Amino acid sequence: MSDESELDVELEARLEQQDVFEPPESFLEQANVTDESIYEEFEENWPGAWERAAQLLDWEQRWDRVLDDSDEPFYEWFVDGKLNAAQNCVDRHLEDRGDQPAIEWIGELGETRTYTYDELHRKVNEFAAGLRAQGIEEDDVVAMYMPMVPELPIAMLACARIGAPHAVVFAGFSADALAERMNASNSRHLVTVDGYYRRGDALDHLSKARDGLELVDEEATTIVVDRLGDDAESALADEELDYDTLIDEHAGATVEPVTRDAEDMLFLMYTSGTTGKPKGVKHTTGGYLSYAAWTSHAVLDIEPDDTYWCSADIGWITGHSYIVYGPLALGTTTVMYEGTPDYPEKDRLWEIVDEYDVTQLYTAPTAIRAFMKWGEEYPDRHDLSSLRLLGTVGEPINPRAWKWYYKHIGNESCPIVDTWWQTETGGMMITTLPGISHMKPGSAGPPLPGVSADVVDTAGDPVEAGDAGHLIVNKPWPGMLRTLYRNDERFIGEYWDEYSIPDRDRWVYFPEDGAKIDGDGYITVLGRVDDVLNVSGHRLGTMEIESAIVGVEGVAEAAVVGGDHEMKGEAVYGYVITEEGQDETDAFREEIVAAVEDAIGPIARPEQVIFTPELPKTRSGKIMRRLLEDIANEDELGNTSTLRNPNVVHDIQSKVQGD
Ligand code: PRX
Repeated sequence: MSDESELDVELEARLEQQDVFEPPESFLEQANVTDESIYEEFEENWPGAWERAAQLLDWEQRWDRVLDDSDEPFYEWFVDGKLNAAQNCVDRHLEDRGDQPAIEWIGELGETRTYTYDELHRKVNEFAAGLRAQGIEEDDVVAMYMPMVPELPIAMLACARIGAPHAVVFAGFSADALAERMNASNSRHLVTVDGYYRRGDALDHLSKARDGLELVDEEATTIVVDRLGDDAESALADEELDYDTLIDEHAGATVEPVTRDAEDMLFLMYTSGTTGKPKGVKHTTGGYLSYAAWTSHAVLDIEPDDTYWCSADIGWITGHSYIVYGPLALGTTTVMYEGTPDYPEKDRLWEIVDEYDVTQLYTAPTAIRAFMKWGEEYPDRHDLSSLRLLGTVGEPINPRAWKWYYKHIGNESCPIVDTWWQTETGGMMITTLPGISHMKPGSAGPPLPGVSADVVDTAGDPVEAGDAGHLIVNKPWPGMLRTLYRNDERFIGEYWDEYSIPDRDRWVYFPEDGAKIDGDGYITVLGRVDDVLNVSGHRLGTMEIESAIVGVEGVAEAAVVGGDHEMKGEAVYGYVITEEGQDETDAFREEIVAAVEDAIGPIARPEQVIFTPELPKTRSGKIMRRLLEDIANEDELGNTSTLRNPNVVHDIQSKVQGD
């Protein structure tokens, strides 16, 4: 054995045993936030200390009050403050760093585009003028159905400039899902693309967008970005506008940023919940942007000189907050990568880190699990020494993956921030501060300064250290959702009903996650406690999938649960009762899978479809999903005594094992 590999084995053994890690000295020396009194400061001066976040932005008019909690849970932040998000993310940086890259875009075919702040400013203005010319006014919701092309952040910022909220729909969602979101948000405008590249192949996107538009209640204007050039499947229809033509028509135009109230909607983001319909999470201009900027500064340690990379998709909240709004508000360079991490080779990400001297990398545990499986030979091919901080988000990270990331990507010299948050929270809530706290692999850490979270039992009382319970947040925060679009009632029902006691003035936000807390106040998030799945970090509602399955002719009933999956974290398992006379064939299984893809998208594709004569139900008729999960995971079955027919689970079990 060579000296080097002996060293490696030793290192591996040491890492395996170590469960507390101190932030590296080299990081502490330059970190944005290093004084631990910040926790106390927020506690003693709450909510006033949140001004720190707002002060990271430029305001046209300063706020009168930090928080208005007179109508709980409809909190308002930075009341009467006025600002524009695009001005904050673009214009205000022009003087100091107009020629610094704002966006470094890397296409899947290897082509690159750099937008300096000056260029971004020009494009955002031209597109804002183009949107206006289409009759789009302040407060009109503009839907965007786009993959990772630079025109997406440009379009978002152009909307923000004219005060038109955007509603971005992940490009991997289906036509039906697009239509559902456009109808729910009363959006009569769509920005989309002709297609994009995946593993070198041109994929048509426009026909999916067109199919979706067919199902939209009202006539919509459509603007199409030309990504594919000659590879596009079809020419634009007469009523479809070409993005470049629109930009050319408004070349050199300037559009004054519209003054927005702090509480005015910046965007809507649809996300899955327990019940069927996706929830339209409403985020505001002042509170959200302050929060995205503050957490980017304090947790991701972003500085203007950095080249920061979040490898999420802008179609999800992570991309909104930490590719677009947070980093650009701080005037840094944000990297956008169109492709997948294993094309053309499994070292693609490391090649980019090396080439661009990326300083921070923020990714998801599902990606880290894949990197681990591929092996360290891929990162080892590249110089990753530019990295100074690593982050993860989206699902729990197991200590083994954490340590692999720490060692093989961070070379043991980068702190890792494991950030817990949600679409609804707008930004990070529970994580260590990298310049202050020690890290415990697998545990996100304490709540951020000013964020008040705890783990409670079903009565709402704090659990003992080490016990599992429900995660709650018992004080408002600036980045919080303000409501569900045009549905205040559902907003209260979904998030506040469980633990709030309004007549005792105790308002508690319930994120629907289970968690544990240790003696140091470090929180380990265990996963959802509602009927929401987390597949490769993508949030999917079981009800949405079930309703797609029962829509298939020949299906009588369906239950969907998540089973453990080595790479995806969770995978979709569909238990299906067929109608009398319907053959339980593989072809029928495929039909069911296709129906799920049509209704939601390939991300919701069931791992297994299991035909069963019955579903395990309680005497009151409730499906016992826990048992179906046990079956999917081949675990020992939980308590079956409350079942109407206890035998049914054994029947299903033998079917699954026989399948
Ligand atoms: O279950 C938690 C999990 O992801 C859910 C939120 O999903 P979404 O709204 O799509 O936002 C994802 C990106 C912010 C949470 O309810 N989750 C997110 N981050 C973590 C996590 N679970 C454990 N550890 C995390 N760091």
